[in-house]
Amino acid sequence: MSVLPIVTYEDQILREKAKPVKNNSKELQKLIDDMFDTMYNADGVGLAAPQIGKAWRIFVADASPFYEEDENAPGPLVLINPAITLESDKTITIEEGCLSIPDIRGAVTRPENVVVEYKDRNLKKQKRNVNGPLARVIQHETDHLNGILFIDHLSYFKQKLLSAKLKALTEGANQVNYPVVAK
Ligand code: NI
Repeated sequence: MSVLPIVTYEDQILREKAKPVKNNSKELQKLIDDMFDTMYNADGVGLAAPQIGKAWRIFVADASPFYEEDENAPGPLVLINPAITLESDKTITIEEGCLSIPDIRGAVTRPENVVVEYKDRNLKKQKRNVNGPLARVIQHETDHLNGILFIDHLSYFKQKLLSAKLKALTEGANQVNYPVVAK
């Protein structure tokens, strides 16, 4: 298992629509293990395959840090070919960040609860009704598979405010304490 370098903002792969995973394989299982290693190493709660340079519809998530001592904490999850099939009308605004956009955060409004259908790491069909922090992580990561970043959800005004920071990031000036793909 290995920690892989994370692709950062303005890399074209983050803007691509990722391709569905069709078959299980050794390569797929290794990719999943490497994605968990990479996510935990960067203290992340979610990581999508395009973020390590692979345009496949797969992400890993572990929202445990948001649940602290809660015994209902969802734990590590692998979602392959995920589809959000139901969104609550009720929305909630939460500050988000992204391992591909280090040092930048912004408040994003999204549905509070969602139903997600996906395949687990054995390619077995699953369906979950999710709420709380995990619902947020799942929506953020599903966006990654469609070439969407959380900053796209911010107002034009807020994006303008962040533009200098984003430019610095493009030039590689932001400090990160995990491996990233060199510019
Ligand atoms: Ni992200």
